[in-house]
Amino acid sequence: MTRFVIFSSVLLVVSLFAPSSLSVDVNEFLAQRERFLADESARILGGGITLSSNEELVNTMLMTAKTFEYDQSFSSLNFTPATHFFLSKPAMLESEVFQFIRQMPKGGVLHIHDVAVTPLEFIIYDASYRPNLYVCSPPKDPVFFQYASPAPANLPDCDWTLVADRRAQEGALQFDAWLRSKLSLYTPNPQEAYPNINSVWTAFENTLIAGSGIITFAPVFTDYFYEGLQSFYDDNVQYIEIRTTLPQVYNLDGTLLDEAQVTQLYKDTFDRFRNDHPDFTGAKIIFAPLRRADNATMSRYVELASQLKAQFPDVVAGFDLVGQEDLGPPLKEFLSQLLAGAVDPNLHYFFHAGETNWHGTDVDENLIDAILLNTTRIGHGFAIAKHPSVMELARSNGVPVEICPISNQVLALVDDLRNHPAAMLFSNGFPLVISSDDPASWDAVALSSDFYMAFMGLAGKKADLRTLKQLAINSIMFSAMTTDEKNSAMAEWQRRWNDFILNKYEDYKTKHNLI
Ligand SMILES: *[C@@H]1O[C@H](CO)[C@@H](O)[C@H](O)[C@H]1NC(C)=O
Ligand SMILES: *[C@@H]1O[C@H](CO)[C@@H](O)[C@H](O)[C@H]1NC(C)=O
Ligand SMILES: [Zn+2]
Repeated sequence: MTRFVIFSSVLLVVSLFAPSSLSVDVNEFLAQRERFLADESARILGGGITLSSNEELVNTMLMTAKTFEYDQSFSSLNFTPATHFFLSKPAMLESEVFQFIRQMPKGGVLHIHDVAVTPLEFIIYDASYRPNLYVCSPPKDPVFFQYASPAPANLPDCDWTLVADRRAQEGALQFDAWLRSKLSLYTPNPQEAYPNINSVWTAFENTLIAGSGIITFAPVFTDYFYEGLQSFYDDNVQYIEIRTTLPQVYNLDGTLLDEAQVTQLYKDTFDRFRNDHPDFTGAKIIFAPLRRADNATMSRYVELASQLKAQFPDVVAGFDLVGQEDLGPPLKEFLSQLLAGAVDPNLHYFFHAGETNWHGTDVDENLIDAILLNTTRIGHGFAIAKHPSVMELARSNGVPVEICPISNQVLALVDDLRNHPAAMLFSNGFPLVISSDDPASWDAVALSSDFYMAFMGLAGKKADLRTLKQLAINSIMFSAMTTDEKNSAMAEWQRRWNDFILNKYEDYKTKHNLI
């Protein structure tokens, strides 16, 4: 047997190298190879875009920086998107590609959540210094915060203390560092601190619970979202869609606002921001309550979504469900409620679906239910490559996936972003947008850090300005804006883009002494 194998492989080698009429000419082979590369280059996200001559020049600058960074990483095996964001952020901030992306007009951000929109600095250095804020920290997380006057009634395992008193007692520096640690997932050793997906989600939800007591105080609520819009505006993002649970917003005396009143607060805040920033396109909300609900509650949620959409047609984009998807329940559990909601032609769905590493389970099959429920976009869709029929239908119906690379890394779906399934979506020009999910929880830079990780880690070395431009265009095209709103948003984006290209072009000329 062994002898036969050796014998036949010798034959094979001989036949490979023997001259034959079938041998392929090297040049012919290389030409064929070039055609392959050209075909792949055309199929990448943005491959259909033709750049102007100014854009070509700016692209050359961008690609010089990108190639330099890639080549360095290739030899040092030290690639920023392959490293946990908590450890790689300093390197990212140094990157020339990142600086470019930060200045670039990126269009809209379509997947972010209410309790993690705004940088923690606002909560720590502004909101938490306001009077009447109490804290109660039981032996186990989460800690709770509440503004009240008089003091709220004590809970079974902890007493409420004035934040101002604790700060005076412990020292502001120490207290503020402790506060940050309760609001942020950051740790210098993420792999040890969060060994699996459930442990990181538990810690994540604890930070959100801690923050929400501060955020949902009515006067803080509006300032918080104003600051959140500001942080995206400063990152050259002109439009925002926020998923919100429409939490119970409260006044100092403990009275609560209902969902319509909370929606009105969003509207007022968006209007105030637009007044102050006339070149800001606007913002909308997606009502996204917790998926862990009973049937009666789900019925109420869906009806409420329809009502709010009718009452605030410009502000409410649609409906979604949130919470760790692996722990369920899946969408199919609520089919009758969700099908009832689908009868309202004005109520659009934006379901999180397939935010999981599992395959063949109810969790990844949420993708099937989402697409059959005519979802407008798919949140994450991390498992979509395992469901080719979902991919086909999504592509033909123009249903994009909202990819949030840093979130998927921090929340333990993937360590090295080169292995993120959206890499395949980029090379196939699949409809997608890039978003940042919960930037405050991991101290991301609004939208730019996710754009950077996507451009460097997911899209490959050869993806260029065309891909970045397509991502910005997609974020407007796939938004929940009306056709008229999209047209004016695109006009504003184009104006910003032209300015950006011209500025970069001038930089280049100055650098190279071309007057
Ligand atoms: C909700 O109703 C469906 C049937 O419509 C049922 O299968 C499911 O168990 C119910 N869920 C709860 C939590 O009661
Ligand atoms: C989804 O859209 C298709 C095509 O418009 C329609 O036939 C179908 O009934 C819709 N499904 C639901 C659940 O609304
Ligand atoms: Zn999300």
